[in-house]
Amino acid sequence: MNPGSEGSGAALRVQVVSGPNLDRLGKREVGIYGTATLDDVHRAVEEVARAEGVEVAFLQSNHEGDLVTALGRAKDNRFDGVVLNAGAYTHTSIALLDAIRAGGVPVVEVHLSNTAAREPFRHRSRIAPACLGVVAGFGPRSYVLGFLGLIGHLRGVATG
Ligand code: DQA
Repeated sequence: MNPGSEGSGAALRVQVVSGPNLDRLGKREVGIYGTATLDDVHRAVEEVARAEGVEVAFLQSNHEGDLVTALGRAKDNRFDGVVLNAGAYTHTSIALLDAIRAGGVPVVEVHLSNTAAREPFRHRSRIAPACLGVVAGFGPRSYVLGFLGLIGHLRGVATG
């Protein structure tokens, strides 16, 4: 039986981590990122998590070190996987790349915007090589799609 489904015992635990400037969602560059706030995004993920019987926790920080610590301790903190929007650190941070590898759980990279269709410096993700997959360009739905992809993967891994 899938972990997280009814009657299976321990539910899957997923952490949703958002990096710099994502606390400004809804106000920042609305032409690119839209008017939904990060709380709205979290509520959308929460709704799907509830329906799927998955526990979800949220973290946002503007500080690279906080993100490194969270990612690196993901397994120690009993998370089965992480959905990560690393914001601009996506394009710069070797420390985050290493933390994802150190964390010991699958991480799905998500972006609200289609980074491949934006400025050249956003085309390169430093963290993608350590991630299970990438979802970009669907606005807040990128988080939900990344979450669903992650739990599908975790259930597939768990059930063989
Ligand atoms: C972003 C894309 C990044 O390039 C940018 O720096 C962000 C947001 C996105 O969700 O589209 O802060 O991660």
